[in-house]
Amino acid sequence: MAVPQHKIWERLISPVVSFLIDEEGLERYALSIDWKKQSDRFHRDDVILPSYYSSYKFRGIEGGYLHPKVVVSYDPILQYLLPPNETLVRQAVIDAIQVQPRRILDLGCGTGSTTLMLKQAFPQAQVIGLDLSAYMLVMAEHKATSAGLDILWRHGNAEKTAFPDASFDLVTASLLFREIPTTVSQTILRECFRLLVVGGQVLILDSNQKALRQLEWLKEVFEELYLRDYAAFNLHESMNQAGFLALSSKDVWWMHQVTSGVKPISKVDVTKYNTVKQTVSKSTDGKIDNNDLEDLGSPVFGIKA
Ligand SMILES: C[S@@+](CC[C@H](N)C(=O)[O-])C[C@H]1O[C@@H](n2cnc3c(N)ncnc32)[C@H](O)[C@@H]1O
Repeated sequence: MAVPQHKIWERLISPVVSFLIDEEGLERYALSIDWKKQSDRFHRDDVILPSYYSSYKFRGIEGGYLHPKVVVSYDPILQYLLPPNETLVRQAVIDAIQVQPRRILDLGCGTGSTTLMLKQAFPQAQVIGLDLSAYMLVMAEHKATSAGLDILWRHGNAEKTAFPDASFDLVTASLLFREIPTTVSQTILRECFRLLVVGGQVLILDSNQKALRQLEWLKEVFEELYLRDYAAFNLHESMNQAGFLALSSKDVWWMHQVTSGVKPISKVDVTKYNTVKQTVSKSTDGKIDNNDLEDLGSPVFGIKA
């Protein structure tokens, strides 16, 4: 159940944040960018904005992530909203990675702060950041270029990405679920499952649900429309329903959490694996070459202990 946006952010937090950031400077920056020209490089006509998204407001601003003012102020504001330190919180995603990924997809990547860290942690991997806002992708690409990182930015809906089945070893989503209806989160989890290879991992960084459930006022601090629904959402059950196993959640600095799941090997895959194993043991010196298992598409052979 969604509740009306509350006033605490507007009355208390927003003035403090406005004091901390250079709002006028950011406004000038927003005006200096030709958004149409820049975002046209990413914009795809087949991407349809869901209704929950079109009505989303950030700091009360209509248009949400499609408003230049929101886009340029996102990073300067967020650094104060992820205590104790934004980089430390995002590092929790990197620390939770158990696979040796060749292809990584960051869903709802926004301005790409986590996406950049993923590429820095796995420079050999192909990293893709996907977002519904082509404007956010303009900022993300700018950051990646400045950092000398080769990342692919894709305009798209995390519910239906159009990437082929089993095309990623790792799929991540940070700070996405707290802002979207839980039915959409469920659809995204199913999409993650479809996109992952067997043994692939999904990682979700978001607000700590336990803390949100225990502390009523915390939900009031942020004006997000779906935060209450997110707090009540049974993430593990939904992940399980999507097909994920080996589920775990870890508190990150009390206010955040990282949740992990693995796409398990199916009965069909076990049969396939046994066939490959028999062929390999008959035809070679007994060593299993990962290439022989290529059609299983699994990154588990690179798994960390
Ligand atoms: C709070 S921001 C998080 C951005 C980034 N992941 C981060 O950690 O800073 C949420 C992002 O999700 C995007 N988003 C919301 N719904 C989406 C969907 N269905 N598919 C793709 N992106 C979506 C928004 O455009 C926005 O950039």
